[in-house]
Amino acid sequence: MTHFLSTADLSSDELRELISTAMAFKAERRVSNELSGRSVALVFLNPSLRTRASMQIAVFELGGNPVLIEPGSTSWSIEYIDNAVMDGDRTEHIAEFVRVLSRYVSAIGVRTFATLKDWELERTDPVLKAFSKYSSVPVINLESAMHHPCQAMADMQTIRERFGEVKKKVLLTWAWHPKALPMAVPNSFALAAAQMGHDLTIAYPEGYDLDPELMMQVRSSAELAGGSVQVVNDSAIGFDDADVVYAKSWAPPSFYGSEAAVPDPQLRDRWIVNSEKMARTANGIFMHCLPVRRNVIVTDAVLDSASSVVIDEAENRLHIQKAILAALVK
Ligand code: CP
Repeated sequence: MTHFLSTADLSSDELRELISTAMAFKAERRVSNELSGRSVALVFLNPSLRTRASMQIAVFELGGNPVLIEPGSTSWSIEYIDNAVMDGDRTEHIAEFVRVLSRYVSAIGVRTFATLKDWELERTDPVLKAFSKYSSVPVINLESAMHHPCQAMADMQTIRERFGEVKKKVLLTWAWHPKALPMAVPNSFALAAAQMGHDLTIAYPEGYDLDPELMMQVRSSAELAGGSVQVVNDSAIGFDDADVVYAKSWAPPSFYGSEAAVPDPQLRDRWIVNSEKMARTANGIFMHCLPVRRNVIVTDAVLDSASSVVIDEAENRLHIQKAILAALVK
């Protein structure tokens, strides 16, 4: 591995190996020395609880030194555009920012959300790509415009903990949210579930399609891994006999560039995950990356039930990121 930007960069076997390492780290929680004497920069352009805390602790537990950087707040604001005339409010170009950091640290983690302004640009993950272009050390994607691979790997670890290494019936269901949200989490979950060979159903209202190119990647990964993918525009049928229910809101490409675009409030009640829907599953588990809006995305009854594994997913962020760091930093 040179960088960890998307699970698509790795084979299914390599992803399974990372999960095995994460499970070993989890079984024996201790401070080790894989990053002894090394520093890792953690660049956060957006807020975070889980990613920030788990990455700091992951670096510490591997014997390293996490260096938190918040551009535009406790560090200079960054310009990303090549050949920009920097006479506005941005202070430092990414070309210097990343190359300087590369001289200090052994890896760079970066969080950079989609701004939902320009679909054709953001679907190319321009900020993440600039980090990997200018960095001479491994770059770890801590959620970009299009992918959240650390989250997806923690999710796959959580499914394997519950069910072992067997193909399961997995539902990724859209949910209503008061604000338009990026699609990094559903993209990476769908891709990783396909790479793990699960039988994946993706349910969303008409008009909320994921990126067609991403869907091609999901379908070809599923075929290669012996799984399947179906898309339904129905809020209920995907729950039938599901082993895994993963809820997430996202905005489709048509919302990009329109600040006024928000999910249709009429979809709210129909797409919430509730006990009636969960009762149709095969005693399925409920998953969400967190943070989650209670009684909007999912009811209290489901989130607080024994079938909810959201806290396990959050814990597994720590263990899988230790595995990723240990594999990347040599
Ligand atoms: N799931 C996740 O990435 O959480 P944070 O936004 O709190 O980091």
